[in-house]
Amino acid sequence: MELQGILSYIFFLMCLFLITGNFTSEFTVAGNIHHQIHKHGRFRRPTKLFVFGDSYADTGNNPKAFASSWKPPYGVTFPGKPAGRYSDGRVFTDYLARFMGIRSPLPYKFRKYAPGKLRGGLNFACGGTGVFDTGNLQPNLTTQIGFLQGLIKERVYTKRDLKASLALVTISGNDYGTYTSTGGSEQGLPTFISQVVNQLAKDLKLLHDTGVRRVLVTTLQPIGCLPTVTVSSSYQQCNVSQNSAAGFHNQLLQHAVAKLNNNTKDSSFLILDIFSAFNTVLKSKRDLTGNSKFDTPLKPCCIATSSDANCGSLDENGKKLYTVCKRPASTFFWDTVHPTQAGWHAVYITLRSSLNRINA
Ligand SMILES: *[C@@H]1O[C@H](CO)[C@@H](O)[C@H](O)[C@H]1NC(C)=O
Ligand SMILES: *[C@@H]1O[C@H](CO)[C@@H](O)[C@H](O)[C@H]1NC(C)=O
Ligand SMILES: *[C@@H]1O[C@H](CO)[C@@H](O)[C@H](O)[C@H]1NC(C)=O
Repeated sequence: MELQGILSYIFFLMCLFLITGNFTSEFTVAGNIHHQIHKHGRFRRPTKLFVFGDSYADTGNNPKAFASSWKPPYGVTFPGKPAGRYSDGRVFTDYLARFMGIRSPLPYKFRKYAPGKLRGGLNFACGGTGVFDTGNLQPNLTTQIGFLQGLIKERVYTKRDLKASLALVTISGNDYGTYTSTGGSEQGLPTFISQVVNQLAKDLKLLHDTGVRRVLVTTLQPIGCLPTVTVSSSYQQCNVSQNSAAGFHNQLLQHAVAKLNNNTKDSSFLILDIFSAFNTVLKSKRDLTGNSKFDTPLKPCCIATSSDANCGSLDENGKKLYTVCKRPASTFFWDTVHPTQAGWHAVYITLRSSLNRINA
């Protein structure tokens, strides 16, 4: 048992080399280990990805009619035009799919137009949503999981498919934004945080009960470092009390996930610590390849020119109400709350070693 665990870990390090193109002598070693593990028939890496949550994972589910993700300058780096991602380019979902060696899953909204592309999974995540309703009329987390349950009923996905599946869940703070904007008090926040995490834990269990083999859930990022908060200090300082609220959410989440794992075999629930990854990247100013980047890490690339406008807003004459930096690749944040493609890539690199656990 123990040895197999180590072997599959080594095998995945090897796969990483293959995927990243560093295959020379590792190739044959990887091949041998692959063979041994298959003989025992225990090892199965996920080949499908189902994605749930909000704009940190959405790749196109929000309606074109109102979502900024479908307006220029979103998508300017990738795919070169607005395509429903809340970034200048790729988001975390795309890098996780790359890690798994599969295509980034199709947004659920487009499933009818591309029925041949459902094999690798689907992306149900929708920008602006939370575990509770957030007032944007888009499906909350429970409803998103309901869409997968519906497809299982329709036999689009079988039990066997689900056994080969990984689920990603991002909950990035829309519940808290709604709490604040609807007059929630500072004193009531800890209680609300525990309500959010309790509901999240119920949804994680619901998702696992569909038959999905493994459920990966992100911690809440350091919300006090988002440009929407740091603008008040000219993008110099993170808000300490908001970051400690995120820390409290994450502590409750760790506990809830430990409890869920206690009741299932082989650690079905995994936490992906994007809180630490954001902090590491924002503090280091360098990515792990040693490139110096993100000189003013808290300052976003796309900035609205008035307080009632957003990145992507136009006035009635079609004039832009925002400015875009020259090189999105040199900034961590794209707009007031979302990372750039370069930002997500740096976060992904930081998390890559912990992603090996999805294959164990
Ligand atoms: C999610 O949305 C559905 C449909 O609008 C609603 O019935 C349900 O109460 C919501 N769930 C939560 C936890 O807010
Ligand atoms: C940090 O955020 C809290 C809650 O939004 C706010 O009350 C406080 O004034 C902020 N602190 C600073 C230093 O801006
Ligand atoms: C895990 O389960 C054991 C035995 O049922 C129990 O004693 C323990 O408190 C549980 N731990 C958590 C974190 O729920």
